[in-house]
Amino acid sequence: MPDSMDSGGTALAFYGLGAAAVAASLVSLRGRLLLSGGKHPSLAGHARIARRLASFIRFYEYGEDRFFRADSAPADVATRRRAGFMQLSALYQTRFAKTAALTAEAAESISDLQFTAAYRVPFQFSRYVRQHLKTGAFLQSSAGVTVTDLDGNEFYDVTGSYGVNVLGYDFYKQAMARGFERVAALGPVLGPYHPVVAENVKRLREISGLDEVSFHMSGTEAVMQAARLARYHTRRTHLVRFCGAYHGWWGDVQPGIGNPLPAHETYTLKDMSEDSLRVLQTRRDIACVLVNPLQGLHPNMNAPGDSSLVDSARAARFDKKAYAEWLKRLRQVCTGQNIVLIFDEVFVGFRLAMGGAQEYFGVRADIVTYGKTLGGGLPIGAVCGRMDLMRRFRDDRPADICFARGTFNSHPYVMAAMNEFLRFIDTAEGRDIYRDLDRIWDERARHLNERLRNEALPVQVANMSSIWTVCYTQPSRYNWMLQYYLRAEGLALSWVGTGRLIFSLNYTEADFAAVADRFVMAAKAMREDGWWWHNPAMTNKSIKRAILKEMIGHRLFATRDGSDPRPAERRR
Ligand SMILES: Cc1ncc(COP(=O)(O)O)c(C=O)c1O
Repeated sequence: MPDSMDSGGTALAFYGLGAAAVAASLVSLRGRLLLSGGKHPSLAGHARIARRLASFIRFYEYGEDRFFRADSAPADVATRRRAGFMQLSALYQTRFAKTAALTAEAAESISDLQFTAAYRVPFQFSRYVRQHLKTGAFLQSSAGVTVTDLDGNEFYDVTGSYGVNVLGYDFYKQAMARGFERVAALGPVLGPYHPVVAENVKRLREISGLDEVSFHMSGTEAVMQAARLARYHTRRTHLVRFCGAYHGWWGDVQPGIGNPLPAHETYTLKDMSEDSLRVLQTRRDIACVLVNPLQGLHPNMNAPGDSSLVDSARAARFDKKAYAEWLKRLRQVCTGQNIVLIFDEVFVGFRLAMGGAQEYFGVRADIVTYGKTLGGGLPIGAVCGRMDLMRRFRDDRPADICFARGTFNSHPYVMAAMNEFLRFIDTAEGRDIYRDLDRIWDERARHLNERLRNEALPVQVANMSSIWTVCYTQPSRYNWMLQYYLRAEGLALSWVGTGRLIFSLNYTEADFAAVADRFVMAAKAMREDGWWWHNPAMTNKSIKRAILKEMIGHRLFATRDGSDPRPAERRR
């Protein structure tokens, strides 16, 4: 072959390769651009940046003076705040003495308690609050919609036991007791099943409208299994979760702060966004989309907790119709792209409707995870899915399996308590509980909001049925204090404070009226004590800016032990 032809051919091949490489990189660039368009602009939408920034922030805290004047309130307001705070502190010390003493003793060796105690309020205030307002971690009993601490104080329970308590604690006590009796003869034998398992599976198939069921020990495990199955069957790598959505604490679904490792096979996309649908339509590596329908209450935002309540920017509003429309669009796109649509109903399943979010929003998923209340008071996670997606092996490739086991899966006692739960919700009484749910809870929220408005209090609630969150209507640095006034009025809140109030469905009108009274009283007491003093020039933005400045200052000037070496007058 002549030389010139040879080199011509080589050049052509070279150009061809070059063109292919350019085309490939353009496609990949387009993919990347689409992907970044699908990200929410907030830090919750940028897990990697959020993690990096989190490591940048150094600890610092306010001294006593600044504690009461973080918003530069005048001295008389600070004095009122201090007096109110100390009065509250004295009340906590006497009223919760026994409970607080045991909590303090136990906290030294319970890491979970140390963590939750540190993150009840923004960190700049945390240590001083812990020192003076000791919240108890122990209770002795529950009855109706109340719980009682070791000092004999009765509280209305709005913790909802992380959402587990849908039907009221008395129901679960009975479910567990009756269930235990029914399986007592078999006892804790694992591996073989007690016959109640078959009935549970039958009921779950009916409720979910899906073909097969697997049982696990927690919601986190159920989500892990659902995602693993989706990856196995689609042979694709990535899962999509929506910005802010919680799906348990497994690494792949928690790509941001809280997980020391980056989650390389997770895309976090914007909720309720066409940009995200475009990502789903164009990428070929997406195995599944995880939806936590609770995000309908606060799309694209993290679960609200008072430790991040640095200002009043917390926003929540549930638009059922709009969220249902979004889920329908998502369903269409997932069907078109063979992406597995997973509804993570660990929280909302059996709370919004008997048929969970699928029924409530009128959209069917390929896989649904349940947990929490389904266990009848005991730990549980369950996966319901289409037959083709639930299979853990391939007929034509015997070594290619999708492994999932668990020592305690299908534990007879759990299965029996679950059975009691599933049987009950199928009775006339059980079905009745789900009737009119939204009307009841929306009406209660509306009523409380009206009272708060009439009292000119800067607080409102937003709700998705019986799941509520407290929002604040005027910029303030002290909204997190409300949780301590609420506790003083006898409301039991979880460690996320006013971020989430969860009601059990056995709250009567009278029970709710008592909670509403106490809520209003607490807010009024907080206002009386000056915490909501408001400088009209202060906005949520200006608060954030001031905190950012503080953080940068402490990053630049802090010593290794976190203290600020600058002279006091230069510290702000
Ligand atoms: C939607 C959702 N998925 C998963 C989980 C994790 O469940 P568990 O805490 O039982 O592991 C939770 C827990 O709150 C949840 O709300």
